Amino acid sequence: TFPAAKKGGVSMTKESGGFDQIDQWKSTMFLYSSALKSINTKIEILNNEFIQLYNYNPIEHITSRLKTPESIVKKLKHDDIAGIRIICSFMSDIYPIADMIARQADITVLHVKDYIKYPKTNGYKSYHMVVTIPVYLSEGKRDTKVEIQIRTIAMDFWASLEHKIAYKFEGKAPDYL
Ligand code: GTP
Ligand code: MG
Repeated sequence: TFPAAKKGGVSMTKESGGFDQIDQWKSTMFLYSSALKSINTKIEILNNEFIQLYNYNPIEHITSRLKTPESIVKKLKHDDIAGIRIICSFMSDIYPIADMIARQADITVLHVKDYIKYPKTNGYKSYHMVVTIPVYLSEGKRDTKVEIQIRTIAMDFWASLEHKIAYKFEGKAPDYL
C-alpha cells in the first residue's frame, strides 16, 4: 500500500477498493502541490519586495519538486514529499531569508538541519527547514509539510556534482575525486 497521510480524508489504511486508493493518493498529491504553490508565492513576494525596496534580488532562482509515487515507494518514507529549493547569490542572504520565512504567522518550523554551520564530510552545504504551511480546502485547513532547502549557487553546484559522483560510484568514489 501507499504510505498513509495522517489527517482527514486521505488515510489509506482501510482496506478499500483500488479506485478509492487512487483517489486518496491523488488528493494527497494535490495537497502537497498546493502547499508548494503557496510557499512559492510567499518566497516570490519576499524577493519582489527586496527588489522594490533595495533594487536587489537576494534570490537567484527557486525550484520546487514533488516526489513521484515511484520514488516515495522506493524510499519507503513519506515525510519529505514536497520540497522547495531557494538558490541565493551570497551566503549572507541565507539566514535572513530563513528567518523571514520562519517568522510568518501561518508557517510552523518543525525542524532545521544546518549543513552550512556543520558541513557534511562530503562537502555538502545547505540550510534545511521542514515546515508546515496551511492549505485551505473546501472542508477546512490542512497543515502540510514542505522541506525548504536554502543554499548559494556555489553550494548548489557542489551538491549536484557530489550527488552525481556518489551515484556513479555507488557511494565509493575514489579519493582523488
Ligand atoms: P534523507 O537525506 O532523505 O535521509 O533525509 P534526512 O532526514 O536525513 O534529511 P536531510 O536534511 O539530511 O536531507 C534532506 C535532503 O537533502 C535529501 O533528500 C537530499 O535532497 C539533500 N541532501 C542531504 N544530504 C545530502 C548530500 O550529502 N548530498 C546531496 N547532494 N544532497 C543531500
Ligand atoms: Mg540525510
